[in-house]
Amino acid sequence: MTFQEEILQGIPNQLPEQKPYDSQVNHAPKRKDILSPEEKKLALKNALRYFDTALHPQLLPEFKEELDHYGRIYMYRYKPSYPIYARDIDQYPAQSKHAAAIMLMIMNNLNPKVAQHPDELITYGGNGAVFQNWAQYRLTLQYLAEMSDEQTLVMYSGHPMGLFPSHKNAPRVVVTNGMMIPNYSTADDWERFNALGVTQYGQMTAGSYMYIGPQGIVHGTTITVLNGFRKIGRSPKGGLLVTSGLGGMSGAQPKAGNIAGCITVCAEVNPKAIETRHSQGWVDIVIKDLDELALRVKKAIQDKEVISIAYQGNIVEVWEKFDTEDIKIDLGSDQTSLHNPWAGGYYPVGISFEEAQKLMAEDSDQFKTLVQLSLRRQAEAINKHTAKGTYFFDYGNAFLLEASRAGADIMSPDGKSFRYPSYVQDIMGPMCFDYGFGPFRWVCASGKAEDLHKTDQLAIKVLEDLKKDAPEEIQQQLQDNIHWIKSAEENRLVVGSQARILYADAVGRIKIAEAFNQAISKSEIGFVILGRDHHDVSGTDSPYRETSNIYDGSQFTADMAIQNVIGDSFRGATWVSIHNGGGVGWGEVINGGFGMVLDGTKEASNRLQSMLFWDVNNGIARRSWARNKEAEFAIKRAMEAEPNLKVHLPNHVDEDLLDTII
Ligand SMILES: NC(=O)c1ccc[n+]([C@@H]2O[C@H](COP(=O)([O-])OP(=O)(O)OC[C@H]3O[C@@H](n4cnc5c(N)ncnc54)[C@H](O)[C@@H]3O)[C@@H](O)[C@H]2O)c1
Repeated sequence: MTFQEEILQGIPNQLPEQKPYDSQVNHAPKRKDILSPEEKKLALKNALRYFDTALHPQLLPEFKEELDHYGRIYMYRYKPSYPIYARDIDQYPAQSKHAAAIMLMIMNNLNPKVAQHPDELITYGGNGAVFQNWAQYRLTLQYLAEMSDEQTLVMYSGHPMGLFPSHKNAPRVVVTNGMMIPNYSTADDWERFNALGVTQYGQMTAGSYMYIGPQGIVHGTTITVLNGFRKIGRSPKGGLLVTSGLGGMSGAQPKAGNIAGCITVCAEVNPKAIETRHSQGWVDIVIKDLDELALRVKKAIQDKEVISIAYQGNIVEVWEKFDTEDIKIDLGSDQTSLHNPWAGGYYPVGISFEEAQKLMAEDSDQFKTLVQLSLRRQAEAINKHTAKGTYFFDYGNAFLLEASRAGADIMSPDGKSFRYPSYVQDIMGPMCFDYGFGPFRWVCASGKAEDLHKTDQLAIKVLEDLKKDAPEEIQQQLQDNIHWIKSAEENRLVVGSQARILYADAVGRIKIAEAFNQAISKSEIGFVILGRDHHDVSGTDSPYRETSNIYDGSQFTADMAIQNVIGDSFRGATWVSIHNGGGVGWGEVINGGFGMVLDGTKEASNRLQSMLFWDVNNGIARRSWARNKEAEFAIKRAMEAEPNLKVHLPNHVDEDLLDTII
């Protein structure tokens, strides 16, 4: 059967061949056994509703075994036989080219070279799912292949509810992931409802089909490291960055450290994760012994080397060892998956990786105790370093939140805020998001490297033109991104689809997209798919990350993210998505994004102008209303450029006047 035929087949009537368990790929850890016997029955009943009743007697024991063994029903047998990766858009069987573009993006998210746990349909972050099971995958691809531009596919947390009549200018797909009644949004609620098969954790770009491999995060991390060194007033050369994690996103840190030009030490407990990043050339050397690590780092500092080192072991050991060895850490952070602390996101110090995996499934209470103990030890060691001058920041992984919950000494004297800033509070927020700069990205749907090269050149031209008369406030951002894109090809950042990322503001995004659309209309390049990380100016409400530099109390509201996705959907997005739970945990964040296919038409030009303008300025307006001065500057500029934009500006109260009353 061809690739096209298998897509059109959907869920086959005959039982497909049983697939052997592939021990070569990285698998999701066993999930918590949380369901009661009655709930397990319900989970099985839910899973079987995808299949003809004639198949139930055979599938039931198989699914029961998956549930008992993995804590979830993935329906491994239904994984398709063709290799999954982003093909040239013309290879997909489709009535709608825009739907074909979405298939391409879905397959990229599940490409084993891109995805963290491809067999469990997890793209990154340990639990960032594209679908809950392979039946959903098959059905969705079939719907996308059959749908016309007069229909919209409705996705409920991985489940394709169906095709509904709509119209040409409506999104082709509307995705919701993990949207819960607010009181049902604890970590255990995710475990329970995901095990029942009724919701999933979409992370950010996993469940919205917009992940472009580690390149996106390399860029963001490079910008963060560069600005981090600027913040402490020293050059990256010879400076030391200590952090952890070589997973989906965290794996970008050593590469970003190299691009920024510093020494990076990144601890990772999982040998498979180390091997992946090392074989990709994203980390220079691997060291397994602490004494050897300390010696090598001292030499690197002395010689002002640009080098990245993976330490195979626990991050807590590194913080403690560097304290006793008196190694000066300039920048410190952490990128273990603490948004998911009890199910494999964080490995406690003192027990082996294998022991930890066993313990988390067999004795979750004891595992939790060890994680919290480990977090307290880690915080204590970090505090010793910061007392000696290290600049530590939370990297949006809920480290400070979980450490505080574990009772670590991590609070400010006021007892309300954390002792250390998040990278958004100090770096990304005021330097990027408040000006509208955020992670704009595109994918060349032809799959051709030459198209990517041409789009890079178009983007460079736009940014250089903009820089000529840009205000002082945004010169540095434009310069960093011009430098980034000029060296992007040489840094060989493409893994999976032919994709590129850069940070641009609304004006930059619109002008770059318009240049692409014109090049498509002249047949200089094929279709281009635009998108962005949800981790952006307007897409995400997350009080400990994207909106952590909002200080008017509204950081605990989620109006901005919801407004954003609704606004994008009627201004021309090809697909939109809104999720509960991203990098900082289920219930801790609401985030959304879009995809937009550029096909070279006049309609595409209208859509991109209208939607991208809204997609950035919504967040700037909110940030400005929260009295962020950089955003006030940016929204005034936007209003001058677009007379139809009218945003209410805040009046500032004299603090001395306030002090007279309270
Ligand atoms: N960099 C950013 O800008 C950014 C953005 C969004 C989210 N994040 C957050 O960063 C975290 C990491 O994301 P990811 O996709 O890399 O997740 P991941 O689960 O793929 O990787 C985390 C890695 O940390 C390792 N690890 C866990 N505990 C450890 C320990 N004690 N010592 C050493 N290694 C340990 C794990 O083995 C794993 O490989 C997530 O919480 C994510 O949400 C970061």
